[in-house]
Amino acid sequence: MRLDKYLTTLGIGSRTQVKELIRHGKVKVNNIIIKKPELHIDENADKVTYNDINLEYNKFYYYMLNKPVGVLSAVSDNNCRTVIDLLDVRQKKGLFPVGRLDKDTEGLLLITNDGELSHNLLSPGKHVNKTYYVELNGDLIESDIETFASGIDIGEKNLTKPAVLKIGANANTAFITITEGKYHQVKRMFKAIGLNVAYLKRISMGPLILDEKLKPGEYRELTNNEVELLTKHK
Ligand code: URA
Repeated sequence: MRLDKYLTTLGIGSRTQVKELIRHGKVKVNNIIIKKPELHIDENADKVTYNDINLEYNKFYYYMLNKPVGVLSAVSDNNCRTVIDLLDVRQKKGLFPVGRLDKDTEGLLLITNDGELSHNLLSPGKHVNKTYYVELNGDLIESDIETFASGIDIGEKNLTKPAVLKIGANANTAFITITEGKYHQVKRMFKAIGLNVAYLKRISMGPLILDEKLKPGEYRELTNNEVELLTKHK
């Protein structure tokens, strides 16, 4: 992207204003004063400063991680590796996981520094769908589908909200879609029908679907399209 366009996109000023700022030597790219508004920069890699203030700090980052088993969904921890520790990115400060997966759960975890987006995805009123693939220590039966749809007593004040259960090719596997995020919710729902979860993997959250190319522990930046889908998701 052109340097002047980048600065206007960030709200530094109009195209004419930012051209002036650049010509007056107020803007540096990778610590070098640049006086050419038409210079092309890589907005994901180059460090751009205006009056020596790093403009990246205003930027939002979005990563899709395939969380591996054994890693905590937290920013930092004294004893255990966290999902943030897995990231090898230049701007780590301010990043946090959107919601939590258990230490022994695998799969889709969004990591960002966008607090508003996170709030929108997690707030109970929004009912964002979350789909998990699950392997159990016993077989499901057809009537479990109705049981999950009607709501289950997991020891909370209210029954769980209707969940969609799809039994897999093997009856000890399933896909379950829930709209809440109670502590250990999926495990507790299966426990309530007498089954233990042996393996749990989140495969989607709202419009965001885990990229199959990501192996556990791998991550990538969201595409612009994915970010747009998430921000528009109501
Ligand atoms: N439900 C669970 O029981 N564990 C998770 O990690 C996510 C949902």
